[in-house]
Amino acid sequence: MEVQKNLLVLGIESSCDETGVALVQSQGSGVPALLAHALHSQIEMHQAYGGVVPELASRDHIRRVLPLATQVLHDAGEPLAAVDVVAYTRGPGLAGALLVGAGVACALGAALGKPVLGVHHLEGHLLSPFLSADPPEFPFVALLVSGGHTQLMRVDGVGRYEILGETIDDAAGEAFDKSAKLMGLGYPGGPALSRLGEHGDATAFKLPRPLLHSGDLDFSFAGLKTAVLTQAKKLGDGLEQHKADLAASTEAAIVEVLVKKTLAALLQTGLRRVVVAGGVGANRRLRAQLNAACAQRQVRVHYPELHLCTDNGAMIAMAAAMRLQAGQQQANTDYAFDVKPRWPLDAITV
Ligand code: KG4
Ligand code: ZN
Repeated sequence: MEVQKNLLVLGIESSCDETGVALVQSQGSGVPALLAHALHSQIEMHQAYGGVVPELASRDHIRRVLPLATQVLHDAGEPLAAVDVVAYTRGPGLAGALLVGAGVACALGAALGKPVLGVHHLEGHLLSPFLSADPPEFPFVALLVSGGHTQLMRVDGVGRYEILGETIDDAAGEAFDKSAKLMGLGYPGGPALSRLGEHGDATAFKLPRPLLHSGDLDFSFAGLKTAVLTQAKKLGDGLEQHKADLAASTEAAIVEVLVKKTLAALLQTGLRRVVVAGGVGANRRLRAQLNAACAQRQVRVHYPELHLCTDNGAMIAMAAAMRLQAGQQQANTDYAFDVKPRWPLDAITV
């Protein structure tokens, strides 16, 4: 496909428990503009089960995706026929959930006679700070911290991703979610644990900082979860204040490892810019500590807008628009599609 100016890209996200749709317009060689976006979170539906139920997630995406698309087009004041490219999350994520977004995107593309583009979900997170009022410039170190992934990356441009380190077991978001569950808190655990810890003493419990001094940029959070389990059992139905202390101590352990490894990645690459992306990027302690550490070192830190830290359609439309600007050629025009529930980010290029 030829690179045109000012393409209208409709993006659809359905990889897990949020249905997101957005309309983005590319701006020549500038940062694409977000025209409208809409989101339906399934959190309430899954809360009763203490976690995401994949079959229910798929069924709910089916119900939500077209009404959300209609709303987005209405809000942007654009007819469906004006859409130039339909983008969708191709992976990684839940297979059935991904198939909903991919199927709808390809059906819309086929009906309109417009190309479709499958986007890597983590690339969406990674590029989501470009939707903020203070977009980054390449190159930068990216700390990608979501429910399923924890990676440090060197990013030299769209599709130019080098993984510097990643988790060898649980992701940071998983560490939050599992610790919260052990403490009897709801799903998703990250925000719940963080809220409980607000009035806690982060030094009350000595919890491990796994791989902090490993000399590489890998992470491990499984041992921390075991330590939290031991402490939670000891607490039993104990005082609320002790629970708040344990929540604060857990959050502090996770955040310290994330911040120190990010600083090590900056040292290793010699870069002076950091982008934080993924749901855990919404964490206040992480933001405060990373900001303080980076300010001392004259390093710039960029975050997505708070409401675009977790899954959304805007980041998928944005990633597709940036790929097209960067010269991506192979937009799908035969509408045969697949999804990639497992898909390493460094496997993709432009
Ligand atoms: O990026 P995301 O929406 O979904 C995935 O692609 O996985 O991230 C969801 C994760 C969950 O583990 C959730 O607990 C965590 O992000 N999270 C947080 C906060 N908000 C969301 N973790 C810590 N503090 C938060 N404020
Ligand atoms: Zn995500």
